[in-house]
Amino acid sequence: MNNKEELTGGRIGKIHKVEETVVRPSNKWTKNVHCFLQFLHEEGADFVPKPYGINEKEEEILSFMPGDVFHYPLPDKLLTDSMIVSSSKLLLKFHKFSERYVSRLTNDEQWMLSASYPIEVMCHGDFAPYNVTIVNNEAAGIIDFDTLHPGSKMWDISYAIYRWVPFDSHGNLKEQIRKTKLFLDTYGVDSESRNSLIGILIKRLKNLMNFMQSEASNGNKDFQLHIEEGHLQLYQTDIDYLRRNEEEITQGIKS
Ligand SMILES: Nc1ncnc2c1ncn2[C@@H]1O[C@H](COP(=O)(O)OP(=O)(O)O)[C@@H](O)[C@H]1O
Ligand SMILES: [Mg+2]
Repeated sequence: MNNKEELTGGRIGKIHKVEETVVRPSNKWTKNVHCFLQFLHEEGADFVPKPYGINEKEEEILSFMPGDVFHYPLPDKLLTDSMIVSSSKLLLKFHKFSERYVSRLTNDEQWMLSASYPIEVMCHGDFAPYNVTIVNNEAAGIIDFDTLHPGSKMWDISYAIYRWVPFDSHGNLKEQIRKTKLFLDTYGVDSESRNSLIGILIKRLKNLMNFMQSEASNGNKDFQLHIEEGHLQLYQTDIDYLRRNEEEITQGIKS
């Protein structure tokens, strides 16, 4: 193959850039993800990869999205207010397209993650800095649709806030509340949904912990490694932090 170059930041040795495409492992849900991405392109969404099918090695092929992708520890320029505004706008734009796909679901589709109710949109499922391309200091493109699944807007929004603010136990609570409100204001989240944010985020994180545990016990090496590295404990510490501060956060993010 010509011009094959390993892309870093994700699973080691598994994701490559070949010419202007990305080649990465496929899964049982990949065909459904490609149908969705194809639909989005037909609707005019140019901020997600174009799907080009699955090759003879069971790898998926997608268009390479221009821009930079940042990983932990995030640089300061990813932690600004303008990045909160820009990531929130990108998620809103994505949901405006992805909600049109819901009526096409047959319920026979396979996804990595189970649906969350009420189903309002197709959730990206992992809308985080490490899955977004940055162009001219703006969140521009979305990549890595393995976690795509039907769900509620708040299911996706809460996890995005966890990752972009970021709302973890190491942060400054007042700053986290201020940035969360900015994210919600930019997206245009109503007051009822704001009241449910922390409860939904806690549920989302617990769901992730259960998923990691069940994948690891089914032999998934990536998740076994995450658990060995202590990720479960990190999520639990963040859940405890959110619970402890739920009232103050909910008060602080009112519209
Ligand atoms: N479609 C794409 N366009 C541009 N870069 C991509 C694309 N897909 C993946 N990458 C790059 O490869 C890296 C790892 O890819 P990703 O698919 O997120 O891996 P993983 O599934 O292991 O999380 C990303 O951080 C990004 O830099
Ligand atoms: Mg990724």
